Amino acid sequence: MSGSVSEARQWARLMELAEIGAIPGDRLEDRGVNRPCLSALDRHARRKLIGWAEAIGCTVSVDDAANLFLRREGSAASLAPVLTGSHMDSQPQGGRFDGIWGVVAGLEALNALHDAGVATRRAVELVAWTNEEGGRFRPGCTGSMSWSGHTHPDRFRDILDPDGISYGGALEQQLGLEADIARRPLGGRPHAYVEAHIEQGPILEAEGFDIGVVSGIQGSRWFTVTLTGETAHAGTAPLRGRRDAVQDMVRAVGALNVLTADATDTLRFTVARIEVSPNTSNSVANLVRFTIDLRHPDEAVLRARGDAIEATIRGAVAGCDVAVAENFHAMPVVFDPLVTAAVAAAAAAEGLRHRPIPSGAFHDAQFVVPICPTGMVFVPSRRGISHNPAEYSSPAQLAAGARVLVRTLERLAE
Ligand code: GLV
Ligand code: MN
Ligand code: MN
Repeated sequence: MSGSVSEARQWARLMELAEIGAIPGDRLEDRGVNRPCLSALDRHARRKLIGWAEAIGCTVSVDDAANLFLRREGSAASLAPVLTGSHMDSQPQGGRFDGIWGVVAGLEALNALHDAGVATRRAVELVAWTNEEGGRFRPGCTGSMSWSGHTHPDRFRDILDPDGISYGGALEQQLGLEADIARRPLGGRPHAYVEAHIEQGPILEAEGFDIGVVSGIQGSRWFTVTLTGETAHAGTAPLRGRRDAVQDMVRAVGALNVLTADATDTLRFTVARIEVSPNTSNSVANLVRFTIDLRHPDEAVLRARGDAIEATIRGAVAGCDVAVAENFHAMPVVFDPLVTAAVAAAAAAEGLRHRPIPSGAFHDAQFVVPICPTGMVFVPSRRGISHNPAEYSSPAQLAAGARVLVRTLERLAE
């Protein structure tokens, strides 16, 4: 039935979805996507997906976190389903493949089973998780964290997007506009979960592999740091007495670079979102708020360095008050041999070059690990570029990934 995977159909659907929130680019290949979660664009893309899935007889449901499920029945209704999927939201300057390919590949797998007339014993369900990226509402993975019980959904309600709209409000609006879709309870216990995704790194392409059998995901911690000083006149206030939040941020980041230094280049430390107040060039800044994204595959290192962040900042600043809040933690996970073996066997059966590979990006799969055997399939990313409009994987690479996915699902659903 992997022969029923259609490279052309999968690519056409991906490109149709890439029009929803398209960022115009000079070259077609560099056109990115900005499709925030829980937005009209998100809902438009979801409706397209629903239409395609209903056309092959799938039933549709949505849970209280707006995770969207498309189910192809199995012959043994009492057995737990096999779950596949990913996310449909993008980064604000995102590409056309991150997340959405895993959803479209899952649909392609269901379509291939349908076209080949294959009856699996277990149902196969496709899920589009809500807000994986955290591009609009920080942190990401709120859909899968709510579903898995990692975090109570109420904890996310008051998160605000850059326009001051709350996550709870946006979620309510979306569920209201999707009230025609059957509601299902949050949570579940699938037989297994497998997520297809682009690699987002350079390894598979550089080493000439077609498929990555993902071994696990490194851990991530997100922090928001607020430095509060005092605004003053840039021309008159002596430097010595200032409580300058921008200068203290520079000191803090310098000290954090020392804390996170790693000769092996394994640790990832990123400061990428900065708010400054009053944000005018001739007033000293009285407030800076910046984010920290810290990642490492070793839980002990992630805990130790992350736990030292606040003291490091306090020790570095000259005059500002310091507040540090942790707003996301995903500890490292190792995937289950049930799924990794199925993915490797599927790649081998397709005659594809494959290797085990760890994931540097986090994924919804990270939160499904405690619930059921979980794994992922990676396909190469051109030059490893991701979270960038120039993200690219070819139609043939993505079709190979979909063939591996459908074989994996068929095996797990038996
Ligand atoms: C996911 O988008 C990540 O930042 O790893
Ligand atoms: Mn993703
Ligand atoms: Mn992403």
